[in-house]
Amino acid sequence: MSVKEQLQAMKEQAKEQIKLARSIHELNDMKAKYLGKKGSFASIMSKMKDLSPEERPTFGKLTNEAKQVILEYIESQKEVIELAKIEAKLQEEKIDVTLSGRHFPHGHLHLLTQIKRDMEEFFIGMGYTIKEGPEIEIDEYNFEKLNLPKDHPARDMQDSFYITDNTLLRTHTSPVQVRTMLEDEGKNPIKIICPGKVYRRDDDDATHSHQFMQLEGLVVDEKTTMADLKGTLHAAAKHLFGESREIRLRPSYFPFTEPSVEVDVSCHNCGGKGCHICKQTGWIEILGAGMVHNNVLRDSGYDPSKYQGFAFGMGIERIAMLKYGINDIRAFYTNDLRFIGQFK
Ligand code: DAH
Repeated sequence: MSVKEQLQAMKEQAKEQIKLARSIHELNDMKAKYLGKKGSFASIMSKMKDLSPEERPTFGKLTNEAKQVILEYIESQKEVIELAKIEAKLQEEKIDVTLSGRHFPHGHLHLLTQIKRDMEEFFIGMGYTIKEGPEIEIDEYNFEKLNLPKDHPARDMQDSFYITDNTLLRTHTSPVQVRTMLEDEGKNPIKIICPGKVYRRDDDDATHSHQFMQLEGLVVDEKTTMADLKGTLHAAAKHLFGESREIRLRPSYFPFTEPSVEVDVSCHNCGGKGCHICKQTGWIEILGAGMVHNNVLRDSGYDPSKYQGFAFGMGIERIAMLKYGINDIRAFYTNDLRFIGQFK
């Protein structure tokens, strides 16, 4: 084979093989194989010394040209490899915008919080402010200053968790009435609500919980009457259970109010005809209320000959149970998402 033929064969073989290189690493191997110190090209070059001086320039020209061609093959394959690499990367990072997203469940407010906030907004709209009091209360505020002295039989109505002889978990939100009146030192009119947790030493069952929530209301002013109480509670009942609701007041007894009433709302389920929710009476009891007892006003610094007040207290769970037909109070506290999730 002439040198020219050898070079031609080498170029052709190189062209085929370089095309097969799939990575820069493989390409470098090819480069070494053809153009390296021990490569095919070097072995052809080694024949130069056997040539006559006249033959050498032609040989030089041919070999240079062949080397150039092989370098070009390598360069162009390098581009091919790099393009393929970019393409592969693009494929790998491709985002399918038509895929549907993952579903992240959203939480929401607990039903009791919803009702509490709804009531707060309603009363704020009527000019009330929101008060809070401690859940650990002193006997004096929870009972004594509410006209419930130590030996008073009505204390049995509210079995208590005592912490010491004088401190207990508050059994109702009514002590916040006392706290508010004491703070205002008998000087200013009062118009507050107090939502919050209360505790009783009851065995838990479908209608009793040792911990539950109440919403207390207290209005004290110079011309406050039972009519104000009735109007306020009528508006609250309509807000809670619907525009066409009526209320009725039944005489009752609480030590801290005189007169005391229990308030019924006409049944939202049957409209008053009688059903299982209202136990066929057409009425549902929703809260206790009354005109603040003179002793309570006086013991907390308000002069009963000048000031009158009304107060009311309702159970938030009870309202929720009536409104949504929930028949077990424990459902609010066992945190079963199947229950809680129904009140989005
Ligand atoms: N504190 C009472 C209870 O827990 C509820 C209550 C009744 C509150 C009459 C009042 C009221 O403010 O006037 O049973």
